[in-house]
Amino acid sequence: MRYILLFITVILFGANSKLCKTCHPTIYSEYKESMHFKSTLKRDAIHNALWQKHPLKQKGEYKCAKCHNPKIEGKLDNGVDCLSCHKIKDIKEHTIANTNIYEKKPRLFYSKDITRRDKKITYHKTSSFFGLFSSTVGSPYHDIDYRNKNYYTGRVCMGCHSHLKNSASLALCQIPNKGAQSEKQNCITCHMPKVLGSATTIKITKTHAYHGFLGAFNKPQMLAKYIDLNIKKDANGFSILIKNNAPHPLFTQPLRVAKLKVIVLDKQKPIFTKEVKFFKLFGKDNKPTIPPLANMVIKDNMIKENETKVVKFNHKLSDNQKVIAILGYYKITPKSAKKLDIKSKNLTSFVELKRVEF
Ligand code: HEC
Ligand code: HEC
Ligand code: HEC
Ligand code: HEC
Ligand code: HEC
Repeated sequence: MRYILLFITVILFGANSKLCKTCHPTIYSEYKESMHFKSTLKRDAIHNALWQKHPLKQKGEYKCAKCHNPKIEGKLDNGVDCLSCHKIKDIKEHTIANTNIYEKKPRLFYSKDITRRDKKITYHKTSSFFGLFSSTVGSPYHDIDYRNKNYYTGRVCMGCHSHLKNSASLALCQIPNKGAQSEKQNCITCHMPKVLGSATTIKITKTHAYHGFLGAFNKPQMLAKYIDLNIKKDANGFSILIKNNAPHPLFTQPLRVAKLKVIVLDKQKPIFTKEVKFFKLFGKDNKPTIPPLANMVIKDNMIKENETKVVKFNHKLSDNQKVIAILGYYKITPKSAKKLDIKSKNLTSFVELKRVEF
């Protein structure tokens, strides 16, 4: 009965994410909270605001769709949906931006499973003990090809995430390939960690890969373990050391601003506070501008891949003083939000990633 309903759904609506929900409800509900679901003009206020000021807007060419709203099967406005990832066959590298090469065969998905890495699974029954026990393998709705290496190294993410250059050939964001080469640690292992709950309702598993995608909008604190905060005393005062263990700049796109807050307490009373910001500022002819119009980088002190940033403070610490270091970020600063006419307050608030006391 369930499958009859399913096939009616397929005929009526085509293969979209809601269909996948029938058998992958946990993954679907995580995905709905992710920026991949919310990557469209309607759901992402920042994306929309930038688009309103974008030179392509006047020409009516919504080229952003290639990554923010790819049309794989069925209609547009799905965001980066299940098929936008699971049908990626390969990635074609280009200077302006890479391109995903999508699998055209219907109902054939790629995925990762280290125990089946040389297999393509088509739904079938198996029986054991001379037919006494039978069970099924695979999905009644789709085939899965586990042989695609891109899903084991994180390269599958790089069709959209590698880089994007504007018309002045300036890279607006760039993630080095290095982070998508190792099977041990890559985009997937850090941003899609295994969490409790079954991947499907048919074949029960204890855990599944988290589909909310950890990031600035979703459970950012779970990524904080990849950032080290330390203190070092010297003759003139002390330094805070920030080590970014990610294989890419701590924040990868130009609107994000990271901030270190340092507070020195003397018997619980704050006697010294200081803030330092880390960002990449784009400009045109030395004046700050929105990234699509830029022809230069005015300033870039963002914490780079595997960099240890040392921030010095000229304040001598005595024995009864305590230092609190807080590292966090703005999705968009109040100043930039104003320029882009963004009203929402929860986009401009400071988010704490990590706090350490010394
Ligand atoms: C090559 C793929 C690609 C294209 C084309 C593209 N983007 Fe993006 N965009 C991304 C990715 C990937 C991110 C996430 C970046 C990150 O966080 O590092 C992103 C993030 C953004 C953000 C930040 C949103 C946030 O979360 O705060 C804005 C704004 C944005 N894009 C605007 C645009 C606009 C406007 C266009 C079209 C003119 C466009 N993008 C075209 C891939 C693309
Ligand atoms: C009728 C139920 C059903 C529907 C509908 C369904 N799936 Fe599945 N799917 C399964 C089952 C069962 C498995 C596990 C098969 C196995 O491991 O033997 C699975 C496995 C997968 C896997 C691979 C998991 C792994 O081991 O790595 C992916 C990816 C996947 N499905 C994506 C999708 C997408 C995308 C959709 C929607 C277009 C979808 N599925 C719709 C039942 C379904
Ligand atoms: C060692 C773990 C690690 C690996 C590997 C890793 N990242 Fe990250 N990533 C982080 C951390 C830490 C942050 C910053 C904290 C945050 O965004 O909340 C981050 C931030 C990001 C962001 C920005 C989120 C935002 O909204 O500003 C994107 C996009 C991203 N990573 C994509 C990738 C891609 C693509 C790869 C593979 C090439 C990758 N990451 C590999 C740890 C990792
Ligand atoms: C941004 C890319 C992306 C999107 C969007 C995406 N997936 Fe995945 N999915 C992956 C990757 C990569 C893996 C392999 C993760 C792993 O095994 O560590 C995966 C794994 C899976 C698995 C196997 C999980 C496990 O741990 O066994 C299923 C099932 C699945 N996806 C279904 C879906 C469904 C359903 C949707 C839409 C609601 C979806 N995916 C959206 C990239 C994506
Ligand atoms: C089809 C294009 C596409 C693919 C493939 C893709 N992404 Fe994204 N991703 C985007 C876009 C677009 C955004 C920005 C959405 C926005 O903010 O509007 C984004 C945002 C993100 C973010 C930021 C989330 C946050 O909370 O701010 C992370 C992390 C991320 N992607 C990780 C991944 C990983 C890991 C993979 C590979 C498994 C992947 N993406 C594959 C297009 C893609």
